[in-house]
Amino acid sequence: MDFFIYYFSVFLSLLFISKLFLSYHGNLPPSPLSLPIIGHLHLLKNPLHQTLANLSLRYGPVLLLRFGSRPVLVVSSPSAAEECFTKNDIIFANRPSFLVLKRLNYNSTTLGTTPYGPHWRNLRRITTVEIFSTTRILMSSAVRSEVIRSLALQLFRDSNQSFRKIELRSTLKELTFNLMMQMIAGKRYYGENVVDLEEGKQFRDVIKEGFSLIGTPNLGDFLPVLRWVDLKGLEKKSLRLLKKRDPFLQGLVDERRKKRGFGCCSTEEEGETEKTIIDVMLSLQESEPEYCTDEIIKGVILAMLAAGTDTSALTMEWVVSLLLNHPNALHKAKVEIDIHVGQGRLIDESDLTKLPYLHCVINETFRLHPVGPLLLPHESSEECTVGGFDVPRGTILMVNMWAIHRDPKLWVEPMSFKPERFEGLEGAKEGFKFMPFGHGRRSCPGANLAMRVMGLALGTLIQCFEWERVGEEKVDMSEGKGITMPKAEPLEAMYRPRQIMINSLSQL
Ligand code: HEM
Ligand SMILES: *[C@@H]1O[C@H](CO)[C@@H](O)[C@H](O)[C@H]1NC(C)=O
Ligand SMILES: *[C@@H]1O[C@H](CO)[C@@H](O)[C@H](O)[C@H]1NC(C)=O
Ligand SMILES: *[C@@H]1O[C@H](CO)[C@@H](O)[C@H](O)[C@H]1NC(C)=O
Ligand SMILES: *[C@@H]1O[C@H](CO)[C@@H](O)[C@H](O)[C@H]1NC(C)=O
Repeated sequence: MDFFIYYFSVFLSLLFISKLFLSYHGNLPPSPLSLPIIGHLHLLKNPLHQTLANLSLRYGPVLLLRFGSRPVLVVSSPSAAEECFTKNDIIFANRPSFLVLKRLNYNSTTLGTTPYGPHWRNLRRITTVEIFSTTRILMSSAVRSEVIRSLALQLFRDSNQSFRKIELRSTLKELTFNLMMQMIAGKRYYGENVVDLEEGKQFRDVIKEGFSLIGTPNLGDFLPVLRWVDLKGLEKKSLRLLKKRDPFLQGLVDERRKKRGFGCCSTEEEGETEKTIIDVMLSLQESEPEYCTDEIIKGVILAMLAAGTDTSALTMEWVVSLLLNHPNALHKAKVEIDIHVGQGRLIDESDLTKLPYLHCVINETFRLHPVGPLLLPHESSEECTVGGFDVPRGTILMVNMWAIHRDPKLWVEPMSFKPERFEGLEGAKEGFKFMPFGHGRRSCPGANLAMRVMGLALGTLIQCFEWERVGEEKVDMSEGKGITMPKAEPLEAMYRPRQIMINSLSQL
């Protein structure tokens, strides 16, 4: 009997798949030979963006794969990407649902995970105005400056004015986590001025555990047969983590609510700059109580921590690695700062517009090492065409920016680090061949904030300190595993305060 049921279900799955694929009468994009049930899952190796780039070289820039039961469109040319994010932008504005992501994001109600629709539009509108708008970002510039300067001060003190070795990945991750928490909740969890060390450590641990759960591939997302057997216990782990994590997030919200009760951050002008993101969301809760619930606020906190901390930290790690391997570029960036900011004071956010070369360095780093190599997955809500091919409804879209950024047809000497190639371009002409933050409705809302954070942090490190490699050999630039494409080995470097800056640093 069991035997019969087994064959019957296999038969049914095959029927389902062939219905989707074999008898689909449209003009589907090219696709390698696939196996029954698992489709192309057997072809996928880490790192995924490299595997997909290799497949696209053989089958073309518009490629249809099947991850188990789910069709996946892989796009790796600017023109195909343009079609997806202009003509078909609304159709591809959906996100696929994956079990762990869904559970850890309040049943997919957070900005980055929620499907396209009224809820996403509302959330995107609110956060665009209240959090990511230039006005709002300018209001928190003092907070960022303070957190970044306290890192400079700490490095200065630790160095005792002579060369010292430092592991930069954790330093930069701590910096971006502190920055984000200071903007969100008005407190930080690393270094000096930490209110509650133990709470801080536990909170960091739950957030880290979330990252690692999300990064664990779950076959059940692609093979419906397995959806009911929780192979790696992921569902259980997610629920357990949720229970542990929620009290922290709720605690942050309640803490600010209590402070507001005591009259802090009134709506007067001067109070505005002191407002944390939670405060802003709580004001909104007063005017739109049925929409802006605590769960929405906690979702915003999560989205910012998940999307805004490791991305910036790991990009900065790539930047410093490249600069250590290209001392000329490091020198040029330093001279630019010395000319336009001087040596008598520390660099400020308002100086950033005067530092085009620094931005070229950051963009050239994004080109070679985009921390979102495949952007985030999108999903089509209707049938559409890309590159002249028909794409079925419910297809997951992956845009291989990593491949586009290294395509020799689009870039001169694509493997070389040449920040100068961005000079005078200001991103404008790059169009769809350079998109570290994506494009269209679902593109990164935090791009502006990220550029400011990275510009100021890197600018401060370059202005205040001399940087050198630990040894003669170049920094190893291989990519490691992970959803945000980290360097394989955490970066270590030597630094010491610049003689000329010691005065300014001592006054911090
Ligand atoms: C180096 C820094 C960053 C990079 C490279 C980056 C890149 C990206 C990319 C590639 C996407 C997906 C675009 C797509 O799906 O087509 C994205 C989405 C997103 N990013 Fe960023 N990001 C960065 C920093 C930030 C920061 C600082 C924040 C906020 C504090 C942020 C918040 C978000 C959110 C909320 C989404 C989801 C948007 C949506 O689905 O509507 N990101 N980011
Ligand atoms: C992609 O192809 C290159 C060159 O043939 C090879 O070195 C690399 O290992 C391949 N990467 C993956 C992930 O298959
Ligand atoms: C998510 O949905 C499940 C089932 O619909 C429900 O039991 C659970 O309480 C929801 N979780 C959250 C955090 O909303
Ligand atoms: C710092 O350097 C000075 C002089 O080089 C030395 O006397 C002092 O002990 C050092 N302090 C620390 C904490 O290493
Ligand atoms: C760097 O890239 C960003 C994002 O694409 C763009 O807005 C900016 O103008 C670029 N800057 C330079 C100097 O190329």
